[in-house]
Amino acid sequence: MIIAANLKTNLTRKQTTEYVNELEIFLNKNNISQEVLVFPAASSLNAHSGKVTIGAQNAYAAKSGAFTGEIGQDHLDEFGIKTILIGHSERRHVLGESQEELVKKFNFYKDLGYKIVYCVGEPLEVREAGEKPMMEYISAQYEGIDVNYENLIIAYEPVWAIGTGLTPTLQEIETIHKDLKKKSSAPLLYGGSVKVTNANDVLVLNSVDGILVGSAALYVEHFCRMCEYAQNIENNKLIKGNNV
Ligand code: PGA
Repeated sequence: MIIAANLKTNLTRKQTTEYVNELEIFLNKNNISQEVLVFPAASSLNAHSGKVTIGAQNAYAAKSGAFTGEIGQDHLDEFGIKTILIGHSERRHVLGESQEELVKKFNFYKDLGYKIVYCVGEPLEVREAGEKPMMEYISAQYEGIDVNYENLIIAYEPVWAIGTGLTPTLQEIETIHKDLKKKSSAPLLYGGSVKVTNANDVLVLNSVDGILVGSAALYVEHFCRMCEYAQNIENNKLIKGNNV
């Protein structure tokens, strides 16, 4: 499974280094073989080798150039970073990135072979408008995206569940994930108010291949616990598989 921490605009470079080191020790000590991704703020990016993969929350679709306030491929190369988050709801709704811009960014980093965690999800008013408008809204977020890209991971994150403590029911997550899996066979993560208290329930769902965690991941011990849940679920599957 894939367990990802989106640290957003939190943790300085020093704090991030401590965070990643602590996480790395935990993963090694507990034989955790799940895919663990951490997305620090741009100024907290650093080289890291080990079980944890460091990814960028954002970068401009350029190697370098005149794009004030942005970082580009060169800045990621310096730290050997080959993983990027694209289409997060805060980039779409707070920073106003359009689908067209996201597609450009997607194609740029896809051509470089990056692992891309591409986020989709609907705002509350769209969800409340009903199943059909909701699926149409989410489908539009797939437009221009190569859903067959081999290094693609998709994260379904309902906007209204991000940082609010609200979550869809487990049944709702399962239903929408099943629908989204028809669009792409890429691993599909759930994100939006995942905490230590609900992570296990979400991770056991058949259509969930992992989680993308924001606020709760800021506590490294909580994030470690979630990685452990994922490992236990996989271990149990193997045991069950052996018995059949
Ligand atoms: P949250 O954020 O866990 O704080 O809801 C998730 C995300 O934004 O990826």
